[in-house]
Parts: sequence; C-alpha cells; structure tokens
Amino acid sequence: MTRLQGRTALVTGAATGIGYAVAARFAREGARVIVADRDEAAAIDAVAEIGADLARVAVMDISDERSVEAAFAELAAEQWTPDVVVANAGVQLFGQDAKAADLDLEVWRRTVDVNLTGTFLTVKHAVRGLLSIGGGSIILTGSPTGLNGEGQDFTAYSATKAGIHGLARTVAAAYAGQNIRVNTVVPGYTETSLVTAISDDPASRAAIVGRIPLGRAGTPRDVEGIMVFLASDDGAFATGALFAVDGGMTTL
Ligand SMILES: NC(=O)c1ccc[n+]([C@@H]2O[C@H](COP(=O)([O-])OP(=O)(O)OC[C@H]3O[C@@H](n4cnc5c(N)ncnc54)[C@H](O)[C@@H]3O)[C@@H](O)[C@H]2O)c1
Repeated sequence: MTRLQGRTALVTGAATGIGYAVAARFAREGARVIVADRDEAAAIDAVAEIGADLARVAVMDISDERSVEAAFAELAAEQWTPDVVVANAGVQLFGQDAKAADLDLEVWRRTVDVNLTGTFLTVKHAVRGLLSIGGGSIILTGSPTGLNGEGQDFTAYSATKAGIHGLARTVAAAYAGQNIRVNTVVPGYTETSLVTAISDDPASRAAIVGRIPLGRAGTPRDVEGIMVFLASDDGAFATGALFAVDGGMTTL
C-alpha cells in the first residue's frame, strides 16, 4: 500500500464523506495529505484520525477566491505544494433545489457558487501550483446527475455537475503539454451526510437503490480505488476522462 509514496495530495471537502475516505486512503498509500475544508473543527478531527504526521488542515472556502488562493500560498510557503488535487467539495440543497420553474435564483446561485465556481477556483490555483512543480494530477468529483436526468428537482445541482465534467475535459486539454492530468470521478449514490434526505427516508432509499444494477448503495470506500489509480503513475495515460463508480446506475 505505497502507491502514493512521495506524493502530496490536497482533497477538498475532506472533513467528512467521500473526501475523508479518499484522504485517509491516500495517507495509507503513503501520501502526505491536506484536509481542505471550510469546516475547521471537522477538518482537525479528520487529520487526527488520519494521523497528524502525514496530514494537515487547510481551512478553505472553495467559493471564495481569496480563501483558496491564501490556502495554496501558505502550503507553497511551507513546501506542501500538492502534486495531487482532488476537487471534491460540493453541496446539494435538498428541499431547496427544485424544478426550474420553482427554483429560487438564490438557491441556484448558492449551488453554483460552491459546486461550479468553487471547483473552478480549486482547479485554477491547483494548476498554478502544478505548473511550478512540473505537473501532477487533478481529479474532480462529478455526478450521475451531470450525465442523466437523475431527479427532477435537481436542476441546479445537475447543471453544476455537468459543468464540472466539461471543465475537466477543457482543463485537461489545455495543460496536457505541461504534464498535468485532469479527470472526473463520478460516484453513484453514496451514503454520506450529503444524502440523508434520501437515506433516512425508506421509500426514497428503496427507489434509488432499486435503480442500481449492482443492487446496493455506494459507500465512500467504493471510490477510493479509482482515486488512487488516477493520483498515481498507474493512471499516467489517463486524462480528460470520466470514470463512473456507480454500481451501473449510469448504464440505464
Ligand atoms: N453522496 C453522493 O451520493 C454523491 C454522489 C455523486 C457525487 N457526489 C459528490 O461528491 C462530493 C462529496 O460529497 P459527499 O457525499 O462526501 O458530501 P458530504 O456532505 O459528506 O461532504 C462534503 C464536504 O464538503 C465540505 N464543503 C462544503 N462546501 C464547502 C466549501 N464551500 N468549501 C470547502 N468545503 C466545503 C463540507 O464541509 C464537507 O466536509 C460532492 O461534490 C458531491 O456532489 C456525492
């Protein structure tokens, strides 16, 4: 388990959920990891669980460029410029996101600010850092909602995730010549605090699990392996691509 020995990996949204699982796995694979999150207390707890000698916190609100830029600058000053960046943080405003005709502009904007603008800002400052160290790997967290019509109320969320898929392809093409790879991982329905509106409601949960060919909900562990592949030299020829780990959901 040393496929990421010598790497420094920053994962946004790593205080909990998918990001935490990926950061912890990266550390087990030998990387130094940066738990980047806007929730400082939860990020400190995550670092303690991962192991403080291998991990550190970067408090960062990805929707605020000054915050993102300051965090990357501080890491660079302390010789922690990441060569792997997982732009994973995101929100889904269940109960507020709605069919287009009913969707408040403010809810649209809050979703776009974090998911799309925040991912762009993470990528922007990640690329600047990677250019200064000779390249590396960027991984974006997409979604089945960015590929299919997966939930009629997910207007804002789906639009941001489709935007992330497009962002990854364009940035991959733009920086391939500088040894920067950019890929998207599409987790399926994964039981984290993001989706308690579904997982806590037996009927909603049964409906979504019923649409997953492999017949079960995903867990954060399910996406660790593809993230390690893309972060490591095993993924050296992969860029601009989209990797679904969704139990077959997007085949339907
Ligand atoms: N859970 C699923 O079913 C599922 C499916 C497909 C894609 N995704 C995507 O996976 C990613 C992680 O989701 P999760 O299920 O682990 O969610 P989660 O809610 O468990 O964790 C999200 C983390 O992001 C952080 N965060 C939120 N806004 C932030 C901001 N502005 N700046 C910095 N950090 C911020 C939160 O503090 C939290 O630690 C998201 O992009 C989500 O859209 C999730």
